Amino acid sequence: MAKPASDRPLRPATLLVRGGQMRSNIDETSESLYLTSGFVYDNALQAEQTFTGAAQHFQYSRFGNPTVQMLEARLAALEGAEACRATATGMAAVSSAMLSHLKAGDRVVASRALFGSCHWIVSTLLPRYGIQTEFVDGGDLAQWEAAFKRPCQMVLIETPSNPMLELVDLKAVCELAHAAGAVVVVDNVFATPLLQKPMKFGADVVVYSATKHFDGQGRVLGGAVLGSKKWVEEILQPFIRNTGPAISPFNAWVILKGLETLHLRVPAMCRSAAAIAQMLEERAEIGRVCYPYLASHPQYALAKQQMSGGGTLVSFELKGGKEAAFRFLDALRVVDISNNLGDSKSLITHPATTTHSKVSAEERARLGISEGAVRLSVGLEDVEDLVEDIAAALDVVAGNPAPKKKPLARMVVEESVAPAPKKPAARTKAKPARAEPAPAKPAKPAPRKAAPRAKAAEPAAAEAPEPDLFAAPAPRRKRG
Ligand SMILES: Cc1ncc(COP(=O)(O)O)c(C=O)c1O
Repeated sequence: MAKPASDRPLRPATLLVRGGQMRSNIDETSESLYLTSGFVYDNALQAEQTFTGAAQHFQYSRFGNPTVQMLEARLAALEGAEACRATATGMAAVSSAMLSHLKAGDRVVASRALFGSCHWIVSTLLPRYGIQTEFVDGGDLAQWEAAFKRPCQMVLIETPSNPMLELVDLKAVCELAHAAGAVVVVDNVFATPLLQKPMKFGADVVVYSATKHFDGQGRVLGGAVLGSKKWVEEILQPFIRNTGPAISPFNAWVILKGLETLHLRVPAMCRSAAAIAQMLEERAEIGRVCYPYLASHPQYALAKQQMSGGGTLVSFELKGGKEAAFRFLDALRVVDISNNLGDSKSLITHPATTTHSKVSAEERARLGISEGAVRLSVGLEDVEDLVEDIAAALDVVAGNPAPKKKPLARMVVEESVAPAPKKPAARTKAKPARAEPAPAKPAKPAPRKAAPRAKAAEPAAAEAPEPDLFAAPAPRRKRG
């Protein structure tokens, strides 16, 4: 790994490019992808000593892998944590952090505003194993204080929360939790380590979905758990080693390369998100705009105190409820409807019917996730294009449809829509065999922006021939 020229530690941008790199004896520039499940030993003694711990050697990629280790070292350096373990997904990170530490009879206190699957772990999974759980309103310190009157072993916090961007006062809650003897786990997905460092405020463990901003280009799933060397080696590692939520070295490599541009992407996305949040506040169709760096956010002062930017997500409420929210989403031409976030492409979702659809309606109401609420993950497109797209879609909601723009091209690959193959033999060979017949697809709603799909509904004679996506490329001409 690169070393600083002075005593001053390397800055985040440098750590994101160079942190954790281990060059092999062939001196490659880019991090190597060790796509291997196992490792070989020089002799039986070395194998034995590796298993007893007397020798240092990679054993098996479920326990550790050089590419994964580079990712872990880069993330630990960025977070300022002693140790890190990468996992297959963000949920593997959250569940490993909790299940490795807890046992029957323990008690967990969590902020109520959690991502849907994290909410399920606390409300449904942990009680099945004899662990008591209690939710509090994360912004209300009196509720935290009351909850810590009884013994508590672990706290789970998400700040800003998914999807309504509520904050928890990290310093105050960590102090209360430590006085009660609890280990504090912070899900820092929405802030990223560039905008918020929970360990600076006392957090013991920080978890990430690397699927989001770390990859940042919507390619792979991944997760990470960061903590003290002692906790990671003694509590977390035996759990990961024996239960197997390991990340693929390929995914770890993609995320390593994604991290190299995190310090360029996140600030650019934050600038666009802030501009969009301000623009939304001016619109009559919107009831409430949630963005931590808006002066109207009820926890604006706290956001300024513990975050160095407002983040890449903006949530807002359409006044007309679910119907208005759906009309708005369907009218967008640049922003895609998708429940992922942190991508270079702007993505929008309706939490009540997607990410938080499994949370009861009563609990959603408590969390402020109304039927009109939508969550926008701002990407790297030109902010003017995003503002124009959102404004035009709001015009549609208001009943003043803007002139339709040319939709983005869509390559149609679904069997139900794609043309029949011209050369069945060649194409059948190229396609992977199906184990079972494909289930019948439900009828699709009208396409949002795909001209080719609309064409598919027209009589065959009127259709222009579709390109054969599986055809072999035309032979290249030899250079003269
Ligand atoms: C706050 C938060 N935590 C955890 C996760 C889970 O991450 P993954 O999808 O990588 O399992 C998500 C996913 O959206 C999330 O938003």
